[in-house]
Amino acid sequence: MHRNLIYAILFFGLMFSCKTVYDLPESPSPAQWDVKVVESYPQMSGGDPDSGFYYLTGGTYLGSGIPYEMLERRLSKDPQKFAERAKIPTKYGFAVFESQYGVKVVNGTCFSCHAGNINGETVLGLGNAFNTNQVGLKLGAKLINWRVRTKYKKDTATLASFDAFGKYFSAMAPYVSTNNPGVNTAARIAESCMRYRDPDDLTYTDTAQYEVREYNIGSDIPALWHMQKKNALYYTAVGRGDFTKLLFQASVLGIEDSTAAREAQEKFVHIAAWIRSLEPPEYPEEINTVRVERGKAIFRKNCKSCHGTYEEPETYPNKVVSLDVIGTDPLYASYAMESGIVDWYNESWFAQSPPQSWMEPLPGYIAPPLDGIWATAPYLHNGSVPTLYEVLHSPSRPDYWKRPKDSKAYDWTRVGWLYTEKTNGSGRRTYDTTLPGAGNGGHTFGDHLTHEERMNLIEYLKTI
Ligand code: HEC
Ligand code: HEC
Repeated sequence: MHRNLIYAILFFGLMFSCKTVYDLPESPSPAQWDVKVVESYPQMSGGDPDSGFYYLTGGTYLGSGIPYEMLERRLSKDPQKFAERAKIPTKYGFAVFESQYGVKVVNGTCFSCHAGNINGETVLGLGNAFNTNQVGLKLGAKLINWRVRTKYKKDTATLASFDAFGKYFSAMAPYVSTNNPGVNTAARIAESCMRYRDPDDLTYTDTAQYEVREYNIGSDIPALWHMQKKNALYYTAVGRGDFTKLLFQASVLGIEDSTAAREAQEKFVHIAAWIRSLEPPEYPEEINTVRVERGKAIFRKNCKSCHGTYEEPETYPNKVVSLDVIGTDPLYASYAMESGIVDWYNESWFAQSPPQSWMEPLPGYIAPPLDGIWATAPYLHNGSVPTLYEVLHSPSRPDYWKRPKDSKAYDWTRVGWLYTEKTNGSGRRTYDTTLPGAGNGGHTFGDHLTHEERMNLIEYLKTI
């Protein structure tokens, strides 16, 4: 054979046999504890839920956005369709509001992620599991910045009302696309945007304040109605202290500085009150009450110590379970342990001015409240397990599974997504549990149950 041809075959062979090598954080050394209880912290009270909803949908807390007149033709005709085209189930996912310079702008609200569909119905507070983040945004960010910055002259109110949005969109664009469907990189958005903010006054800096890793790690979006029970926010309980500051974090992106941040944050007392008033949706199908009673007893024996009780009096223990004990994919927690945002946050306006909030990463995951658990598939922090049955029987979990197109394809027996098992990870809607951070192992607390016991337990879970 011709020598060049041999080299070519060798070369291509090598290329295809080399898997992408990611720069990933190391797993932290084993914790000296199995379970840590997170204590409560005094929260700002006195908020009004209706005002909270008004602020959330009104959008002024978002600060800046795309000039409304650029989107007016499409948005004013049918806001609901406009949202659905972006795979957001409700028109509340976008807000049109007036910036501090008196210009109407458009930006995404909390409901672009925190409103979801279940069984064909839209539920505010449910995570949007159908919003795919697998598309790259780098080109989009370049285009929108180019378009607005050439259309409007410097020193105009319109450009000033876009500026912060344009900057954060560019800052986050390389860090928000995921390699699995359904997972969301909100934590990466915060991480990549905050790094161009001065920690004291939150103004933009030209240089980055800390480094971020290349690997884009995402998570499932949690249901907001859990917040009323929790003493700390996020899967790893990293969010400590005052919730209004922690919640506001998601919207600081488009804000100019800490003065504007203070004004907006005060409204978050009401937003927190609205979130605390949320109730999970009720299970819509028939329930077998005999099975429910049997399942309740199984829950008390096997699950209550970590997840609490759902009969009067309701309790929730706020327990973080160490990575070694829970055994679910460690990457998300390991990532938080190493991220530069932690030190930045703890030296910043968020932590240094009252009411204080701070970040305290731990090598573990909090056992979440299970209210409305029937509706929040897929399961675990990385959304790697499609049904409750498989959460409670780890050997049945599929390594590769194709998600349904919409929320009407629900499995009412195993409770969760109706999915198709696949033999490899190819395809846009296929969840590949072999990718870093996407592992579906661990949480084996239901494995020892008989099939009958597991089905009784699931029947009970439908009712809580
Ligand atoms: C880009 C999508 C996105 C947007 C926009 C967003 N969130 Fe989230 N949110 C997430 C994800 C993903 C998580 C899970 C992160 C984690 O726990 O590590 C989360 C976590 C939370 C939690 C913690 C829940 C818990 O059980 O610990 C609350 C509360 C919350 N978000 C409220 C808000 C509010 C209020 C806004 C608007 C100001 C908002 N979010 C905007 C995606 C988003
Ligand atoms: C030792 C503590 C512990 C015990 C016991 C336990 N769990 Fe969990 N559970 C957790 C933790 C921690 C998580 C979060 C793991 C993750 O997301 O990686 C979790 C997650 C879950 C989830 C997924 C939640 C979601 O929103 O995705 C379900 C469902 C669940 N547990 C049900 C149960 C049931 C039912 C039992 C009893 C058979 C049980 N658990 C026993 C700690 C526990």
